[in-house]
Amino acid sequence: MVLFSGRANKPLAGEIAKELKVKLGSIDIKNFADGETYVNILEGVRGRDVFIIQPTGFPANSNLMELLIMIDAAKRASAGRVTAVIPYFGYAKQDRKANHREPITAKLVANLITAAGADGVFAMDLHADQIQGFFDINLDFLYASPVIIDYFAKKKLKDLVVVSPDIGSSRRARSYAKRLGAELAIVDKRRPRPNVAEVLHLIGDVKGKTCLIVDDEINTGGTIVNAANAVLNEGAIEVYVACAHPVFAGDCVKKLEHSKIKEVVVTNTINLPQEKKFRKLKVLSVAKLIASSIRAIHEEKSVSALLNPAK
Ligand code: R5P
Repeated sequence: MVLFSGRANKPLAGEIAKELKVKLGSIDIKNFADGETYVNILEGVRGRDVFIIQPTGFPANSNLMELLIMIDAAKRASAGRVTAVIPYFGYAKQDRKANHREPITAKLVANLITAAGADGVFAMDLHADQIQGFFDINLDFLYASPVIIDYFAKKKLKDLVVVSPDIGSSRRARSYAKRLGAELAIVDKRRPRPNVAEVLHLIGDVKGKTCLIVDDEINTGGTIVNAANAVLNEGAIEVYVACAHPVFAGDCVKKLEHSKIKEVVVTNTINLPQEKKFRKLKVLSVAKLIASSIRAIHEEKSVSALLNPAK
């Protein structure tokens, strides 16, 4: 087995390698003077089981291109098998035509990864489970929920209600609620236009309760902050939020910092620069989860048997 890291999340790749007790493979990645990406694998991979760790978050286009080029380099060096480990799968939100003449970019990205030569993909908390079907190669994925649930279970929060910030995420929230022994509430959200979220109704009782809002990602922060305001307006006493992927686009960090949210719990699927870290932020590591999955894939063992795939 050999692990290579792109430039998108080297700290996470380092942690995964440490968990697996291997050294990251030697690779040179840089940009040509005109900005094009250059990759050179500096050790033999012929016949080896290659794992390329590269989330495709901001800057999505260059991180995705870097992943494709790394896969191509490994295939051309006669790797036995190449698995793209994509802790955060970018472009996942464009998974259907919401309007006439729109692309389905998540499918295009799946095609690109396959065409580059990946034999398999590993991802975490996909925006929509059906993205698995966009790939004609195997895609294993798991949820960050065991790490997040463990963190909140230790807090022993009283009168807890898990809140889904929109109807689409209610299955995830129900699963968190069940495992934390909490009640469930659902925010009825609509998006009048991209990047704008509006709360229509709140389904469930949050009066006098502590709320935990769970989502797959926080992007502009609109969804989470609106949901937090909605539950506070309905009488919740405090609000925590948790998500797998801290995309934190635009002025998201400012919104979260200035909100009434008590704590924002995320994972390290995306490497946050120092300026995106703030007092109320807690980053949990998914390195162990990913390392166990890589080991299972490498040893041809069941990923689902090793890991709890709860949503
Ligand atoms: C929505 O469908 C997702 O699950 C998230 O709620 C969404 O991506 C968050 O976006 P934002 O933070 O921009 O409201």
